[in-house]
Amino acid sequence: MNRKMNTINTLILGSGGREHAIAYKISQSKLLKNLYVAPGNSGTYNIATNLVIDINNYLEVKAIIIEKNIDLLIIGPENPLVSGLHNKLLNDNDITNLKIIGPKKEGAKLEGSKFFAKKFMEKYKIPTAEFRSFEKKEFSDAIDYLKTLSPPYVVKADGLAAGKGVFICKSLKEAENAVNEMINKSKFGDAGNTIVIESFLDGTELSVFILTDGHSYKILPSAKDYKRIGENDTGLNTGGMGAISPVPFLDEKLMLKIKNQIIEPTLKGLKNEAIDFSGFIFFGLINVNGNPYVIEYNVRLGDPETQVILPRIKSDFLKLLINIDNQSEFEKNQLLINEEATSTVILTSGGYPENYQKGAHVKGVEDVKNALIFHAGMKKEKEKYLTNGGRVLSITGQAPTLQQALKISYSNIKKIKFNNAYYRKDIGFDVT
Ligand code: AMP
Ligand code: GLY
Repeated sequence: MNRKMNTINTLILGSGGREHAIAYKISQSKLLKNLYVAPGNSGTYNIATNLVIDINNYLEVKAIIIEKNIDLLIIGPENPLVSGLHNKLLNDNDITNLKIIGPKKEGAKLEGSKFFAKKFMEKYKIPTAEFRSFEKKEFSDAIDYLKTLSPPYVVKADGLAAGKGVFICKSLKEAENAVNEMINKSKFGDAGNTIVIESFLDGTELSVFILTDGHSYKILPSAKDYKRIGENDTGLNTGGMGAISPVPFLDEKLMLKIKNQIIEPTLKGLKNEAIDFSGFIFFGLINVNGNPYVIEYNVRLGDPETQVILPRIKSDFLKLLINIDNQSEFEKNQLLINEEATSTVILTSGGYPENYQKGAHVKGVEDVKNALIFHAGMKKEKEKYLTNGGRVLSITGQAPTLQQALKISYSNIKKIKFNNAYYRKDIGFDVT
């Protein structure tokens, strides 16, 4: 391909608030030629071209990469990464000169297999909860092991389970039941064929993100998300009900430990395993008395964390991404971060994360002022916005202090109305 690379065609895969936030950031770059999002949502529709395809269907993805002359592909969600989209594109002779943000399936195992991630951390002495893993045929060993632990018990399905495969159980009976559901009743299909049982870590969670080309890395703004549906962190786990950035208690001392004990050993470990990794690593961490432990790795950006991280990046984010395959340029690039705080609050369809209705008329989107609105499960039909998912949209505020940012998020979210809308009123409550 002889096409000049000074402006580039970019394709983002995904349809959530995360992908809208990525599209928003990239659309600010002078290096952008055309921006496509597949399948996208009503928010990406306003700033990019949405392409209606099934992103888990390789031939459909390949066809649009060729048709739209895509130079840079950003893979938003985990499924295509874990199933090896990057590998397939790399091995396809019809695809040339495509830069890809997101690891190959070998690297994506850090997220796709909790057992793999735990073994990796054990091998490279990365702090994490003590664990044992069990296969289907080891059901009774798993139960015996549980009996040696004290509550709360942590039981996890090995594979991807859309954030639902982790059980924190108060009683032994509950934990035995979780093991039984996964191993014997295949609650999560093959994802639960292997399970991990680990010790419970008592501390405060935070998330740290890096972008790496496999050699050097850039630390993105940190974030804290609020996973539970109910106020004061109660009720069912969700994809995330809100997030803040930066994390107020993440001081230099803790960050240094995270770098030395977690980020760098992870990158060294990947190198040592000959896993070349280009993309984001999202370290889900827990701070236990000033010491960071890894709860999980993700190999992509978080949703809704992206909606608070990217608005704080001052540098040309697209430029950084373009240099993913140019080691010396990537290393040279500086990542400038705005000192201001951001917050995002998610507006959901009542009933989420369980059953909820779609198709409610969303009013007030145009009334949002001095804030960013990121669409998620929302679509536009005949000039009307309609709900189209559990997490409908999020409102990001940015201001010198977190309190002010939250005020912006909350004063704007109130303006948006639809039948059965629900949001948490206490995002940031524990750190403000
Ligand atoms: P994960 O999907 O692995 O991030 O787990 C979901 C949630 O379960 C985490 O955000 C934590 O709140 C909780 N969790 C997972 N593992 C542990 C652990 N070992 N100790 C305490 N909490 C945990
Ligand atoms: N908000 C958590 C995640 O994206 O996995």
